Amino acid sequence: MAGVTRFGISIESGLLKDFDKLIAKKGVASRSEAIRDLIRDDLVQSQWQDTGEEAVGTVTLVYSHHVHDLAEKLDHLQHEHHNEIVSTLHVHLDAHNCLEVLVVRGKSGDIKQIADMLIGTKGVKHGKLITTTTGEGLS
Ligand code: NI
Repeated sequence: MAGVTRFGISIESGLLKDFDKLIAKKGVASRSEAIRDLIRDDLVQSQWQDTGEEAVGTVTLVYSHHVHDLAEKLDHLQHEHHNEIVSTLHVHLDAHNCLEVLVVRGKSGDIKQIADMLIGTKGVKHGKLITTTTGEGLS
């Protein structure tokens, strides 16, 4: 394979055994693929350390639609940040609870702030920002 470098890794046998068990459980094709995945994830997470870097992620929110003004507050925040919030999926989970998944794109520092505001809105039961990458510059 062009552009591929082989290298050896020294690792404690117990740690390698645990790693092999984990990748077998996950169904990852090989140790090499598992290590490539770990490296890529580390590179993506390091992109998020630089607040000016272009980043992509998703914000997941679970909230009760019975909480007074909450849906309106969340909607207002999303309109205020329409440049960063690319798309929104709303699921009525049951008679009381809503799930929203927002695709967010922009400078990582701005994205984190927007996610914190949404997740920190009073009445949001659970929220999480999943940080990923535009894919650009990642082999
Ligand atoms: Ni709903």
